Amino acid sequence: MSDPIILAIDTSCDETSVAVTCGRCILANEMYSQILVHKKWGGVVPNLAKRAHEERIDGVIETALKKSKKAFEDIDYIAVTYGPGLAIALGVGINKAKDLSLKYQKKLIAVNHMEGHIYSCFAQNSKGNPNTPILFPYIALLVSGGHTELVLFKNHISYEIIGETLDDAAGEALDKAARMILDAHVYPGGPVIEELAKKGNPNFIRFPRPLEKSKDLNFSYSGLKTSLYNYLKSESINRQSGQKAYDKHHIAASFQEAVIDSLLIKLEKAVITYKIRNVLIAGGVVANMSLRKKARVLVKTHNGKVIFPPYKSLYGDNAAMIGIAAYYKAKKGMFAQSFDDVERQARAQLI
Ligand code: KG4
Ligand code: ZN
Repeated sequence: MSDPIILAIDTSCDETSVAVTCGRCILANEMYSQILVHKKWGGVVPNLAKRAHEERIDGVIETALKKSKKAFEDIDYIAVTYGPGLAIALGVGINKAKDLSLKYQKKLIAVNHMEGHIYSCFAQNSKGNPNTPILFPYIALLVSGGHTELVLFKNHISYEIIGETLDDAAGEALDKAARMILDAHVYPGGPVIEELAKKGNPNFIRFPRPLEKSKDLNFSYSGLKTSLYNYLKSESINRQSGQKAYDKHHIAASFQEAVIDSLLIKLEKAVITYKIRNVLIAGGVVANMSLRKKARVLVKTHNGKVIFPPYKSLYGDNAAMIGIAAYYKAKKGMFAQSFDDVERQARAQLI
């Protein structure tokens, strides 16, 4: 029997995403990015996100079905992100999934956005490539705009959070840093920092590596942000007194280096502590090439293997990852028993 076909929806933040998947294979992965809607505000504005999701979702569903060459009749299950994310944005996807489930009599599967990011590492295209084997257990490092966590991924749909940020997420720190360095409303900041950093010296300023010495696997970015603020303030005073202007490239490269190092210090600690050499890294920040390069080198020194999402379109938020996670939930019979099982949970934890 062939694998079920799943229509998946993710409206957790600023992308209206709809995918059609079959097992680990992506048949279509459509999204409407709201970046232009939020850019001028320097961050996501919840009301605008909700409205944009409502305006676009039907069109994105239609395109995803068309590209996958499937009709509603071909769909076996409907999957939707229930959290974590922006409550009113999540609500749009959840309501749409419920409407479709009722109209076409399809079972619903509620998926955690972060478990989606984990499963993005195992995605395949419609031809079944790449055919990465799934060999448990893994240490998963999840780095997004809202989350930074280390997860022990023991088996399908079985997670244990072994470390997390005590304050800001890594992506959030990069977003804020871009605004501070450029003194402008930029969003998202991660790619801006990466671009600036390409022409900078990562060792120009030694920003702190927060919690470097602590034995636990937690992260912290608020102190690093304060260090950047203080550095920029002192530079501004220097400039006013006629000294040379600071170099944005060096500052961005040095800040990015501190963020990446602090992620990898804890990743290495997790690999050693749990004696697990195989690593997954996912979430929007995995788009950063320096992070991927340094992580590859690190994991190799421990004779392990690191897996990233195989396609760029899977780095940021997308619904294909939700469809793939839903496939493994369906295999375990984890369907919603009623609509009450699919309520938005802005702060949902991975369990
Ligand atoms: O997973 P994601 O798309 O959305 C959330 O679930 O939060 O992650 C978004 C985060 C943002 O903070 C963004 O600045 C960061 O991913 N990001 C990057 C890069 N591209 C996106 N960070 C560093 N380098 C990049 N190239
Ligand atoms: Zn995400």
